[in-house]
Amino acid sequence: MSNIQSELFEKSKNIVPGGVHSPVRSFKGLTSTPRFFKSANGAYITDIDGKDYIDFCMSFGPLILGHKNEKVESSLQEALKRGWSYGACEPYSVELAEHIINRLCFVDQIRFVNSGTEAVMTALRLARGVTGNNKIIKFNGCYHGHVDSMLIKAGSGLAGEAEASSAGVPESTAKDTLILELEDLEGVKKCFEEHKGEIAAIIVEPLPANNGLLVQEKEFLQGLRDITKDNDALLIFDEVISGFRVAFGGMACHTGIIPDIVTYGKVIGGGLPVGAIAAKTHIMEHLAPIGNVYQAGTLSANPLAMVGGLETLKQLTKESYKTLHKNTEKLISVFKKWLKEYNDGQFSNYNIIHHSSLFWIVPGDKIKSVGNIPGNIGEDFIPLFELLLDKGIYLSPNAYEVGFMSHAHDEKVIADLEKRLWS
Ligand SMILES: Cc1ncc(COP(=O)(O)O)c(C=O)c1O
Repeated sequence: MSNIQSELFEKSKNIVPGGVHSPVRSFKGLTSTPRFFKSANGAYITDIDGKDYIDFCMSFGPLILGHKNEKVESSLQEALKRGWSYGACEPYSVELAEHIINRLCFVDQIRFVNSGTEAVMTALRLARGVTGNNKIIKFNGCYHGHVDSMLIKAGSGLAGEAEASSAGVPESTAKDTLILELEDLEGVKKCFEEHKGEIAAIIVEPLPANNGLLVQEKEFLQGLRDITKDNDALLIFDEVISGFRVAFGGMACHTGIIPDIVTYGKVIGGGLPVGAIAAKTHIMEHLAPIGNVYQAGTLSANPLAMVGGLETLKQLTKESYKTLHKNTEKLISVFKKWLKEYNDGQFSNYNIIHHSSLFWIVPGDKIKSVGNIPGNIGEDFIPLFELLLDKGIYLSPNAYEVGFMSHAHDEKVIADLEKRLWS
């Protein structure tokens, strides 16, 4: 890496907190400093020195088609000529909404926002508005964006009692979030007994993919569905990562377990800033301007973002998912072999947990909740990440982040990966 990159980081640190606009980009805990990228194409991303990397971060998930997909690019160029913000009704969001609603039997209506965090924030307010209750159950190991009430960690005492995990989150907010453990249905039942008539909703990542990849049993998700129904609470699936990625209809379609409200982000905008809340009409009509749950946004349903999202989703077919998942299997077998054999087994304690096109390289197996994650994975990750970076293979710069495959990661790219790994 040239001095220009480290100088740029130093400069950035003086004018931006930590030098980054989102903490996970900071390479915190790693030995190298962040790479500055100037361009990207397909499965590759290029830093300002001109070095290219096979990208498995893929902007943390949105780029399911790879960087700079040709069709998305040309529809964005056309859209750009027409104008890029009206703050008024336009046809592009109608087309994207229809494209989604027509393919998902469990939602009637959708509202577009600008990020996954905004989608979650609205979903929680909507659940509270619909039920008239305040408390929300969240699971340890699930991330739902940086909404105050979701920056909460487990406390001691009553089932689910919690405290803020970030400075600046008031205790009064923390007290309405109840933190439970994944896989623990008994804990969920007990929590509903202890907080009878107070719980608005359970929010869960049906495929938790922000604290490693904690693949849940279908029985757990079904249990959440049953318990919420029995207690007149709502079930929110946060599908910001899994929506349009594990299948077009996300984990709801993959498992057949239907939430009351679903939140989307990432793939829905194909790399442009889009989030969404979707549900049946009887829930969605609580939102303003029809209902009394307020939600708004100057740039919501931005015409460029709508066009980028639509052109991305149009390319997601049953066949495309099949190829994506098949290529992920191939990638994993290449990576696994290398992890086992490299440097007389330096990384042979590593395993790869995967689901559809998501994968997590971790020194452990059968990890389904935070309690099963080995304590030292952050330290262990440093030599692996740095070595791969040197070889031109870019993983998300944190041991707890998953890797993302895209349609652009085809057999040719996997062959290139093999070559780079063994170089
Ligand atoms: C499941 C989940 N929910 C919400 C969010 C927040 O989305 P955003 O970063 O777009 O605000 C994320 C982001 O990683 C996420 O993975």
